[in-house]
Amino acid sequence: MRQRTQVAIIGAGPAGLLLSQLLHVAGIDSMVLERRSQGHVESRIRAGVLEQGTVGLLEQAGIAARLHREGLPHQGFRIALNGEHFRIDMHRLTGGKSVMVYGQTEITRDLIQAHQVRGAPLLFEAEQVALHDLDGSRPFVTYRRDDASHRLDCDYIAGCDGYHGASRASIPPSVLRSFERIYPFGWLGILADVPPCDHELIYSNHANGFALASMRSPTRSRYYVQVPLGEDLKDWPDTRLWDELALRLGRGAANRMVRGPSIEKSIAPLRSFVAEPMRHGRLFLAGDAAHIVPPTGAKGLNLAASDVGLLAEALVSHYHDGADHLLETYSARALARVWKAERFSWWFTGLTHRFPDMDDFGRRMQRAELRYIFESPAAQRVLAENYVGLPLHSGDDGAWAIGEGPPTVPPMAAS
Ligand code: APR
Ligand code: PHB
Repeated sequence: MRQRTQVAIIGAGPAGLLLSQLLHVAGIDSMVLERRSQGHVESRIRAGVLEQGTVGLLEQAGIAARLHREGLPHQGFRIALNGEHFRIDMHRLTGGKSVMVYGQTEITRDLIQAHQVRGAPLLFEAEQVALHDLDGSRPFVTYRRDDASHRLDCDYIAGCDGYHGASRASIPPSVLRSFERIYPFGWLGILADVPPCDHELIYSNHANGFALASMRSPTRSRYYVQVPLGEDLKDWPDTRLWDELALRLGRGAANRMVRGPSIEKSIAPLRSFVAEPMRHGRLFLAGDAAHIVPPTGAKGLNLAASDVGLLAEALVSHYHDGADHLLETYSARALARVWKAERFSWWFTGLTHRFPDMDDFGRRMQRAELRYIFESPAAQRVLAENYVGLPLHSGDDGAWAIGEGPPTVPPMAAS
């Protein structure tokens, strides 16, 4: 079967779903092709800290009602060093900004529901997706579904199909440059239906390794511990994991920690990765298809959102005003923000984890940097400013909106 749309979107993760919803609000047609089933996509467990800019884009996409009902606004978080806790008052340090705790799984469900309510073309179980004629003016996508071959003609293709997708792989290796850092440990995560041990998140640097206390709701907790690469889940029965969390998070948190059976438990590797450029001809990459961050600081989903915010803005400018400048500069503008979030995620990982090759000097440096942060409002401000999220456009005040364009006041003059 042959079909046509304005923007073909590959992948129904948060990047692809949010892009198609933002385009719909602006009156632009798109069709989303997803390899996996709806059930699979809706049950993936990921991080859950949303920057204000991400919340703004979800509002603009018209899917923020449940997020505002059920999301938990957080104005601070804690850093622990061998049991000693320090609170980073994000709200005060950033002049009133905060983050929202709301699971990525829930955002995905809200977005899928919005698509299905309006009968939007969102196709699950689309196999053998292949991208064609990216260099020409009439790109198209082929795929197989229900034992039949299909062709989707379009003006542009958005590659939102994650790290292992077909989109980035369609760009000739000669024009693609990638940058990567693999970390020598993973995160073992547990989800349990127990109240969180604190009303805010706790990032802990402990002699045994990093630990994080997070949450999904007042009755559902999410915890992580740093584990060596190659660790086997079988060696981590729930009791061992709760004991280790209690040790690494410190006595106060341990006393408040409620233990319960895990409803999900998995180990994820940590990686930093960026592919440049994020555009090839009529293909635009967004989200994990173009970059990966280690989860420390929860920037993955927020970066996916800021990419599609920029891409939607560029497509709106093309279709509404016939102006292609934003499409032409998409890659450079997205990468400028991506690299800053990569830097923060890499730095925050380095500050809070125990590296196997770290000697006494390295540990003293880490301790000195943490103590410096505990004592210096200037250092706390740098951390808080990055944690709540840098502006979408350099020089913005942090509020993201499609169609706003770059500010006219130069950043230095604004302060
Ligand atoms: N064809 C169609 N769909 C594909 C293909 C393919 N060849 N390959 C992958 N996909 C789908 C995946 O099944 C997945 O649903 O693309 C989607 C990509 O979604 P994500 O991996 O969630 O990536 P993204 O939407 O960029 O979201 C980034 O999600 O992965 C987390 O940590 C990440 O929080 C970040 C956010
Ligand atoms: C999570 O809740 O899964 C989470 C929170 C904060 C992070 C990473 C993950 O930095």
